[in-house]
Amino acid sequence: MVTLFGISGSPRRAATEWIMQEALRYAESNWHAETRYFSVRGKKINFCIHCDHCIRKGSCTHEDAMQEVYEGFAWADAVLIGTPVYQGSLSGQTKVVLDRLRAFAAGNPHGLRNKVGAAVADGGDRIGGQEIAIRAITDFYVINEMIPVGGGAFGANLGATFWSRDKGAEGVAADEDGLRSLHKTVNRLMMVCQLVKEGEPHV
Ligand SMILES: Cc1cc2nc3c(=O)[nH]c(=O)nc-3n(C[C@H](O)[C@H](O)[C@H](O)COP(=O)(O)O)c2cc1C
Repeated sequence: MVTLFGISGSPRRAATEWIMQEALRYAESNWHAETRYFSVRGKKINFCIHCDHCIRKGSCTHEDAMQEVYEGFAWADAVLIGTPVYQGSLSGQTKVVLDRLRAFAAGNPHGLRNKVGAAVADGGDRIGGQEIAIRAITDFYVINEMIPVGGGAFGANLGATFWSRDKGAEGVAADEDGLRSLHKTVNRLMMVCQLVKEGEPHV
């Protein structure tokens, strides 16, 4: 059984939330994954202020909704982060979540090692910065010793991409190519995660 943690980096109940719910539903029904979901919507999440409390003490000085994210990462074998495209890249909310995960790594050296990660981005424009947003997320995976995956050539390349046409959930639900890229990406994420789990040393 693979555990999958899904995160939406949108402040709205709209396109990204719809995509993430579909991804988790798909992983549960096709891969029997156990899933958890976290949305930044309505949550208080402070910026990292580089106080280095995490480096000295192993935990973050802020007490806020990130606790749920830390628990989700500790629990998960696989992570899927979804972001709306803001100014050609990931949303500020998504970036803050990634920055604040520095405290997770400080408290658990190699705690993210070999977790498998993928990303999905949705933009109001067909080519609005989705791949750049995805790369920012997969770079985080690389930096933190995770295993980044895309969805494979001919449809999902670096990960899942949607064109919402700025129409929220309705817009992405109508994007058949986007949906195909999401399913390909979730398939790849689950496949690699199973391989990693099977290959784990049994000590
Ligand atoms: C501050 C801001 C900046 C945005 N910048 C872009 C952009 O650079 N490229 C793009 O394609 N869409 C851009 N959009 C549109 C959103 O990415 C798009 O509507 C997305 O589907 C919203 O996701 P949500 O419904 O989950 O909030 C921007 C929206 C906002 C609020």
